[in-house]
Order: sequence, then C-alpha cells, then structure tokens
Amino acid sequence: MAGSKLAVVGAGSVGTSLAYAALIRGSASNIALFDVNAPKAEAEALDLAHGSQFAAASAAVTGGGDIAVTEGADVVVITAGAKQNPGQSRLDLAGTNVRILEQLMPPLLERAPDAVYVLVTNPCDVLTVAAQRISGLPPERIFSSGTVLDTSRLRWLLARRAGVSVTSVHASMVGEHGDTEFPLWSGATIGPVPIRAWTAGGERIFTPEYLADTAREVVQAAYKVIAGKGATNYAIGLSGARIVEALLRDDNAVLPVSTVLSGLHGISGVALSLPSVVGRGGVHRVLETPMDDGEPGGTAPFGGYPAPHYGRAGTLKGRHATPPQPLRWRVRISSPTEVHAVQAQRRTNRSNP
Ligand SMILES: NC(=O)c1ccc[n+]([C@@H]2O[C@H](COP(=O)([O-])OP(=O)(O)OC[C@H]3O[C@@H](n4cnc5c(N)ncnc54)[C@H](O)[C@@H]3O)[C@@H](O)[C@H]2O)c1
Repeated sequence: MAGSKLAVVGAGSVGTSLAYAALIRGSASNIALFDVNAPKAEAEALDLAHGSQFAAASAAVTGGGDIAVTEGADVVVITAGAKQNPGQSRLDLAGTNVRILEQLMPPLLERAPDAVYVLVTNPCDVLTVAAQRISGLPPERIFSSGTVLDTSRLRWLLARRAGVSVTSVHASMVGEHGDTEFPLWSGATIGPVPIRAWTAGGERIFTPEYLADTAREVVQAAYKVIAGKGATNYAIGLSGARIVEALLRDDNAVLPVSTVLSGLHGISGVALSLPSVVGRGGVHRVLETPMDDGEPGGTAPFGGYPAPHYGRAGTLKGRHATPPQPLRWRVRISSPTEVHAVQAQRRTNRSNP
C-alpha cells in the first residue's frame, strides 16, 4: 500500500512475523519496528530490509529502540509484552502486560496521534479495554486482533475435513480470544451449504460430536503450538497483516476483531470479538450476529458445552493513566456467559413485560 505506515511495537516472535508477512504481502509502504531491546529491533529491521527486493511491493523497513520510529504511523500494532509459557493461560499475562501498556500508550499517542491501534498482546480482550481507557480513543480506533486467528484455525480445520479451499469456508469463532471462545455454527457454511448439511459419500460428516471436537481443537490450538515450539507466530503474523490491509486499503472486510462494546447484545464496557466491518479509520460497525439455541447467547445454556468451560469470570485491577488521578477499574472477562445471561434476561423481559 503506497503512502501508508505500519508501526509494529515489539520485535519478538509475533512482531517480526507480522512485519515479515506485511512486507511479503505488500500491506504497507513503510514498516517500522520498535522494541525496548534496541539491538534486536535494529537487527530484525535490517534482516527484513535485506529481503525487500523480493516483496510484493516496495517497502521501507526501519527499526530501533527509540519510539520515534513510530512517528506518523497510520496503523500501530502492539505485540510487546510477556508471552504464554507452556501451561500458562493468556489471562495469566494480564497484570504484566497492562503495566507495559500504561508505559507505552502515552508516548505512542504523541508520535502517532492519528493512528488506528491494534492490540495483539495477550490477553488481548482485557488489554483492549485497558488501552481504550488509557488512551481515551474511541473504541473503533483501538481494538484487538481478537478471534481473527482462531477463525482462521477453525476454517482450516473445516476445509481440511471437507476437502475444499479454506477460502470457501465461512465460519467464525467469537467471544474471548481465549479459553471461552466459541464457534457460530448456525451461520457456518461451505460455499452456500450450511455446515451441518454438508455431505461426503452421502453422509453428513459434520456431526454434533465432530463440531464439538473441532471447537475444542481450536480452543486448544495455541497450547499445542506453544508446547511444541514455545510461541505461536506465523499464523498471527498473517492474521495481523490482513487486519492492517483492511485498515489501510479501506477494505470494509468483515473480520472478528475485538472492540469494547457499548450496548450490543446488551453488553457494555467489555471487549470481545464479533464479526465487524473493518476499513479506513478502524471498526466501522460491529455486526449484530444471530445465535441459535446451540450457541452461547442462544436459548440453551452454554451451547451444549460443559458449563465450566464458559462459566469463568474474573477481575483485573488496573490503573487508568488519564485523567491525572489514577482510577481503579474492574474488567469483566466472562463475556460469553454474559452474552447468554443478558440475552436470557432480555427474553425474560419480553415475555414478562
Ligand atoms: N492475539 C493473538 O492472537 C496472539 C497470538 C500469539 C501471541 N500473542 C501475544 O503476543 C505477545 C508477544 O508474543 P511474542 O511471542 O512475540 O513474545 P516475545 O517475548 O518473543 O516478544 C515480546 C517483545 O516485546 C518486547 N517488549 C517488552 N516490553 C516492551 C516495551 N515496553 N516496549 C517495547 N517492546 C517491549 C520484548 O523486548 C520482546 O522483544 C504475547 O503477549 C503473546 O501472548 C497474541
């Protein structure tokens, strides 16, 4: 994309893979890497720049330990922070990574006041709420990659089973980017065929058991990759580059990013992923997504999954950088449960006016 600057904060496994994917795909004309580890950021930028001859479009790559490299960015992707160790959940990272955000956001906003901010650092839903409060930016300009990666994992599994191209699978993971996320099977199709009606050799192959196993596999995917290689980086790099392109090209692409919701499904002040229209300037619209009886938020509790799977609730204490007086806040992370509870409440309200 000509005349577009992407700043990637954090030059670790995820940040460098995202920059690499963006370079290869021609997502931005200027890619800047910033990391507190200056020699690493400089070396990574140099290594990427050395390959720019072979990229889809010409791009300048810079990098270093001075936050000034982010100056004037159109999109800032934040990947800085602690990552999961084998056995750790994303939520275990919340305290450390909120503190990093508190340090990062004010100088970033000085350097890139007009940018759209995309959180990748985990737990990305919790950090989206924190970053939105720290920055004071409207939710459409500060959101997270949410379940874009998980959706890609889901589509890959379904495509492999059906023997079709992954681009012909239309299905989404929604909710928390984490252990309580869930697929929207009711809207899932292969081409125009509802997933549950898809046949092979005259048999319906996407049985309820198969779909439940697939959902579990998506939820467990990161743990499996981290156990084997210590990090997940390539698929999130590609997912992040796709989000950057949607923003810089004004694609108006429907992607399940995570924004702080205000009123949708009756939820406010919580960030979770729902299919959303992403284009220049950020998230244009979060789509009101129908859910049926078999899904959290539908009429059946927990969509047939074991209750504890969706029954987690937690709180995070953090500080608000602005206004000047630090403020305590509480971030709720029981979103899918909350979707269900709120919808159940609304139904009750409707039937008992
Ligand atoms: N949202 C997703 O789908 C998704 C997927 C994979 C990983 N992640 C998350 O991305 C984050 C990064 O993972 P990783 O594997 O790249 O970790 P990593 O340890 O390889 O890299 C993190 C980098 O952040 C840098 N950093 C730390 N504090 C900083 C600061 N204040 N300013 C600038 N840079 C700073 C470190 O020096 C390091 O280079 C983790 O939180 C991980 O859980 C999210």
